[in-house]
Parts: sequence; C-alpha cells; structure tokens
Amino acid sequence: MTIYGDLSESSSLLNILSKIKPDEIYNLGAQSHVQVSFDVPEYTANVTGLGALRLLDVIRHLKLPVRYYQASSSEMFGKVSDDKHQNENTPFNPQSPYGLAKVFAYHLTKIYRDSYHIFASNGILFNHESPRRGITFVTRKITMGLSRVKLGLQGTLKLGNLSSQRDWGYAKDYVEGIWKILQYKTPEDFVLATGETHTVRQFVEEAAGLLKFDLVWKGKGVKEVGIDKKRNKTIIEIDPSYFRPKEVDYLLGDASKAKKLLNWKPKINFRKLVEIMLKNDFDLAKKELKLGRKVFVKKINI
Ligand code: GDD
Repeated sequence: MTIYGDLSESSSLLNILSKIKPDEIYNLGAQSHVQVSFDVPEYTANVTGLGALRLLDVIRHLKLPVRYYQASSSEMFGKVSDDKHQNENTPFNPQSPYGLAKVFAYHLTKIYRDSYHIFASNGILFNHESPRRGITFVTRKITMGLSRVKLGLQGTLKLGNLSSQRDWGYAKDYVEGIWKILQYKTPEDFVLATGETHTVRQFVEEAAGLLKFDLVWKGKGVKEVGIDKKRNKTIIEIDPSYFRPKEVDYLLGDASKAKKLLNWKPKINFRKLVEIMLKNDFDLAKKELKLGRKVFVKKINI
C-alpha cells in the first residue's frame, strides 16, 4: 500500500502516522544533494531540517510509542580541524545549507528524546553508495560516466574537485546498521563509517583500472585532464561548475561505538564497492549501446 505525504506538510504527516501507528520510523527524507542546497537553501532547510521537526512533533502530540531514526550525516562535521577520525564526540562545523539543516535535525532529535522521552536516535552516516545511488553524486557519476566513455557513448567525463576525501561504504551494510540502531536497548547516537578514506581521484583511478583504461593525469588545476595512454585520448576533464561555494575536504569516520555496542561493521571495502557499482553501470551502458537509445539517463548535468 502506498500512502502519499510530504515532509513539508505537517497535516499529511499527522494523517499518515495516526492511520498507520508504526512501530518504527526511519526519517531518510531530505533534499540530500549538497551542491544543490546552495541553489535551494530555503527548500533544503524546510524539508531536511524542519521536516524532522514536523515528524517529531506529530509523534509528540499523538504520544506514539514509536522508535524514531534520524538520518544524520557526516556532512555535519564539515571542515574538520585535523586529519583524525570523526566520531560521536567530534564538534560539528557544517559548510553548506544541507549540512546546517542536518545539524538542526540532529539536535532536535536529541532535544525531543530528552524532553519528551521519545525513543529517538541519530545515525551519523558517512557516504554510503550502491548501484541505486543517484547519478548526480560523484561515485555513480564516475562509474556511469567511465562505462559510457569506454563504449564510446560519451566523449569525456567532466568532474569538479578531485582532491576531496570521503569515507565511502556500501549502502546495504549501512541499512543493517540503521536497523540495529533502532533495535538497541536505549536511544543513542551512532557513527557508521568504514574507517577508510579516499580521494575522488582515487575513486576515478580504481574505476578506470577496472575498465582497463591506462589512465595518466596531465596539467594542473582546471586545465588538468585524465588521458587514456593506450589511445592517447582525453577521458576526464575538469569543469569548475562542479566546484562548490564551500567544500568539505576531508571525512574519515570512527565507528568503534557501533562496533562495540551494536556489533556492526561493514563487510564491503572500497575496492569491492567500486567493482559492484561499475559492473552494474557497465552492463547498463552495454544495454544502451545494443538498443541504440539511452536506457538510463539523458544527460549528467549536476
Ligand atoms: N556530485 C559531484 N559531482 N561531486 C563531485 C564532482 C561532481 O562532478 N566532482 C567532484 N566532486 C566532489 C564533491 O565536491 C565532494 O567533495 C565529493 O565529490 C562527494 O560529493 P557527492 O558525491 O555529491 O557527496 P557528498 O559527500 O557531498 O554528500 C553525500 O554524502 C553525505 C554523507 O556524508 C550525500 O549523499 C549527502 O546527502 C550525505 O549526507
């Protein structure tokens, strides 16, 4: 059964929750694209920040005995002062309207937990990826884009900042983690992360290697290009329109609390993650080539 609602409408949330009376709520709803949040900051604050408030407030008024999960994000850490791991005690320093809206929702979850004794927990998740990832996020853009370049379906892949570092894990592992967070005996906040960090450049190199490109980098800054040495052809270009007004340069999570209390740890490592995503997208690109029409996407433009 599908019931429609919207995080920007309290009345629709009231309607849904009073009808369903769920045992658990996972609030994964958001305007979740960091760069887009600079273009639509008000909408982002409304859905990503106030959306959580609306849900929690309906829970409070209906006195629902529900367990509430808030999808908090490593973007809340933002600019970190050193290159150590970030954990549940690391201060937040968000760098985007999205990160700030998530900080609001994070604190509100704690405030409602303490004030109204709602079972409300935050999962602070580092980047989690899979073949289901939207194609405007960098991992999927790379696996999709390089697969299409390989088969001659597009000339080059245009990217922004290659130097930022992310702790990338496999979404399926993280979904198990968030379920475990809500099954825990008390409502608490947990970081979920792999404990490994890689640059966007390393992600590109890993994917290019699996596709048997002989990738070399030439030039600097916006003039830098990635060349396939075998064919002496440019396959990666830098497009400054993908640079963010403010960047989060470095993220590396420490999930030792989740490991200790929830017995959670990710099974899929960085290399395997790239492999899973690439296989999916290379198969899609092959289908596109065979059918002679786009089966998945017209244009990657964010
Ligand atoms: N999207 C995108 N497109 N990012 C690029 C590109 C590009 O062409 N080129 C370089 N990047 C860099 C971004 O500047 C950023 O530093 C990094 O790649 C990752 O960008 P995204 O994949 O868009 O993810 P994100 O880290 O900003 O945010 C994601 O992860 C968060 C968890 O920490 C989103 O899923 C958020 O909703 C989530 O909270």
